[in-house]
Amino acid sequence: MKIRTLSLRDFRNIASLSVSFHESITVLVGDNAQGKTNLLEAIYFLSTGRSHRVNDEQVCIRLGQESALIKGVIEGSAPFELKVVLHPQGKSLFYQQTLLKRSSEFIGKMNAVLFSPGDMELFDASPKARRRFMDTELGKINPVYVDLLSKTMKLLKDRNTMLKEKVIDETYLEVVTQRMIGYQVDVIRLRTAFIDRLNVSLNKYFNLLSLSQENIEIKYTGPVPWSVDCEVQLSDRYAKHLERDLFMKTTGIGIHRDDLSFSMNDIPVSEIASQGQRRMIVIALKCALLDVIEETIGEKPILLLDDVFSELDSARRKALFNTLHQNTQTVISTTDLEHVKEWLSEAVTIYEVSAGKIIERKQL
Ligand SMILES: Nc1ncnc2c1ncn2[C@@H]1O[C@H](COP(=O)(O)OP(=O)(O)O)[C@@H](O)[C@H]1O
Ligand SMILES: [Mg+2]
Repeated sequence: MKIRTLSLRDFRNIASLSVSFHESITVLVGDNAQGKTNLLEAIYFLSTGRSHRVNDEQVCIRLGQESALIKGVIEGSAPFELKVVLHPQGKSLFYQQTLLKRSSEFIGKMNAVLFSPGDMELFDASPKARRRFMDTELGKINPVYVDLLSKTMKLLKDRNTMLKEKVIDETYLEVVTQRMIGYQVDVIRLRTAFIDRLNVSLNKYFNLLSLSQENIEIKYTGPVPWSVDCEVQLSDRYAKHLERDLFMKTTGIGIHRDDLSFSMNDIPVSEIASQGQRRMIVIALKCALLDVIEETIGEKPILLLDDVFSELDSARRKALFNTLHQNTQTVISTTDLEHVKEWLSEAVTIYEVSAGKIIERKQL
């Protein structure tokens, strides 16, 4: 899967811009605060229908403007167009000029994996951030998951509303709980399989990239571990927890409380890994995602690397360049071309980004 062109209007500090991408590597070079991350954010928008940086997407509209537009032409088996319009009422997502009703129809039409310096916070952040990571990545390759998740959350909301009532309708509560458990079992199954698969590639890439041998593992903790009698076990937990839920007036257990823990040689990453190792774990995680996505959808996603090279030493930069697949389309941002120059051939595209505008640089 490749992005051919990106057109923007009034997105962040970019008034109007149209850019075409190299089928292998495109480099965005420029000083700080010029718009490099904004460009990557726009590509990411086309993949997930949202920003990787902010929840309130209104801030992506260029100051003083009414609306913003992101449009991409994607090369699949046949080329297609994706479009996001941000406006005061929210956002509209289009596929081939057709307005889509649900974002699940948009997510994953184009697949991109992004490394952003902010991802380094994954280890110390709240469980919510790690669930968001899992939900976004799994959602991109599995629309059924997106659907399951939204059904579970809706039932959870219904259950919590009932728990707050003065008079509890016990039959209703039981029905909602059982239906919700049914969906949760599928969520647990999909999350478990996804993390298991991710672990295999994560270790491979970490060792390749960090030039060391450590055992990196992600552990997924759900309300009950996945097993064939998961549903029975979960029902049992809900039954035992009911009194407390009634007292607290909210649902205390379930997949909305799930978490991931990252460990290095069985010790939590947050306790043992250096900044450099954390960076390599996150980069390895993104490379692992490339594998998992390709395996699932049969096409290589687009890789977006935001400012990853400046913090790596020369040996690890080289290891990362060697690991990048030749036929994975990659967009790299950097403040200093020197960090990447050594590994680039003449046959890449380089753009200089300055104050929201870009100019192609003809030679390295
Ligand atoms: N809605 C907006 N309207 C106008 N400018 C914006 C908006 N959002 C961000 N910016 C500007 O974009 C610039 C940051 O761009 P960014 O892509 O993060 O920089 P970098 O090149 O360092 O990655 C800043 O100058 C910021 O003020
Ligand atoms: Mg940036």
